[in-house]
Amino acid sequence: MEFSTQSTTDLAKIQTQALSVGVFKNQELSDAAQQIDQASNGAIRAVLEAEFKADAKTHLVLRHLDGVAAQRIVLIGLGEKAKYNAKAHAAAESVFASYCKSASITEAVSTLASIDVAQNTVADRARAAAQAVGYANYAYDATLSKKNEDKSIEKFAVWSAPTLTAETQTGLTHGKAIADGVNFTRLLADLPPNVCTPTYLAQAAKKLGEEFDSLKVEILERKQIEALKMGSFLSVAKGSEEPPVFIIIKHSPAQASDEAPLVLVGKGLTFDAGGISLKPAANMDEMKYDMGGAASVLGAMRAVAELNLNREIIGVIASCENMPSGKANKPGDVVTSMAGKTIEILNTDAEGRLVLCDALTYVERFNPAAVINIATLTGACIVALGDINSGLFSNNDALAEQVKEASQQTNDGVWQLPITDEYQAKLKSNFADIANIGSPGAGSITAACFLARFTEKYPWAHLDVAGTAWNSGANKGATGRPVPVLVQYLINQCAE
Ligand code: BES
Ligand code: MN
Ligand code: ZN
Repeated sequence: MEFSTQSTTDLAKIQTQALSVGVFKNQELSDAAQQIDQASNGAIRAVLEAEFKADAKTHLVLRHLDGVAAQRIVLIGLGEKAKYNAKAHAAAESVFASYCKSASITEAVSTLASIDVAQNTVADRARAAAQAVGYANYAYDATLSKKNEDKSIEKFAVWSAPTLTAETQTGLTHGKAIADGVNFTRLLADLPPNVCTPTYLAQAAKKLGEEFDSLKVEILERKQIEALKMGSFLSVAKGSEEPPVFIIIKHSPAQASDEAPLVLVGKGLTFDAGGISLKPAANMDEMKYDMGGAASVLGAMRAVAELNLNREIIGVIASCENMPSGKANKPGDVVTSMAGKTIEILNTDAEGRLVLCDALTYVERFNPAAVINIATLTGACIVALGDINSGLFSNNDALAEQVKEASQQTNDGVWQLPITDEYQAKLKSNFADIANIGSPGAGSITAACFLARFTEKYPWAHLDVAGTAWNSGANKGATGRPVPVLVQYLINQCAE
């Protein structure tokens, strides 16, 4: 994918396979639509109301208009002008990108980012356009015998005023890196669990290290993990025939600032059967995406390397399977974490926190400025927030605000939930320092409270992406979230 800016003032002269122009309801044309309408002797006004009502998420294609150089004008419905916002803009870019992809259009120009939106910059809108194109271009075919032959959108330009070209290009550059990261993440999470094993994730990380000079990758195997005394992580891994891996992927740019590193930690369960607390059979296939957090760490690290951000950024992944077997954890088992805290395992299906707590202890050695962990941690988070927002939990208000800001910029929603002491009390165990489940209620919060016990030494945020990393139903597949918010957060932390 190649993204560029286009600032020709006369829109009718732009030669392209497809040019998008926005139209609001009640026949209100965007400036771009007005220009094309005038150049084509009213071709747009002629179709309004009867053929095209300009409802949000609709489009109409007008081909070979007289006086217009573009092969197609794609009218994009923007809905009511009063309700038009950053999300509506992102949705409009998605409509255009999906249309281009489905029509095998390989080169296109969008004018949608030129429409002003409150509390949002042209860079934000250019970024959203690039994210939409990247998203539309992804088509899974890794394990299909018939490969996907649809063409991808190769060249995409965003039209903006000449004075805004630099800002627009910055947004596009960031958007491309995010899109590349998102698609990298989606593929890993879509791959079946007999292909994408912990060992496969380690190989994928190594390949990234070969592709980007700034990335150094280290893989720890079972013996090394044992030497680190990660008793909690290893207790989950021991129920499976697949060996566990611990991945460290470091971005060290030649021109690094001297600030402390930022660290991402991912839950990498390449399959979560629940262990002895076995999950029900229905939809168990979807538990292959229980490594979505890990995949998002790799996707974000890919974006960071592509942008060559000027700061040390470290990704850490703890990866294994959670399986029932004669060697698996049993309810009632007590294990000792790397931090020395003992944990009573009351439910072997609450394994994500068991894996993450040791990774969160491991990263203390980096003296991080901030740590964000990403995990498909709880079904309860799907109940609370659905597929709209990732759950956000933090021990540091400033960090939480920074994550929310990045979330708004990238339309990758997060919603903060509390982790106050009253909830901590629910994790009390009679036989260990802490229980691995809390009761009653508040399942995502008690899970976050568990992690919080291991993150007292640094500013920390946790994103529960159980509901947002995956689409169920007809569009079953990985979303690549929360790569956009993660990468934007990292970009913002590196901006001079
Ligand atoms: N990986 C699951 C959480 C999950 C559920 C992710 C559905 C995506 C979709 C996690 O390991 C888990 O099993 N959590 C349990 C915790 C419970 C036993 C306290 C859950 O949410 O049911
Ligand atoms: Mn589980
Ligand atoms: Zn899990």
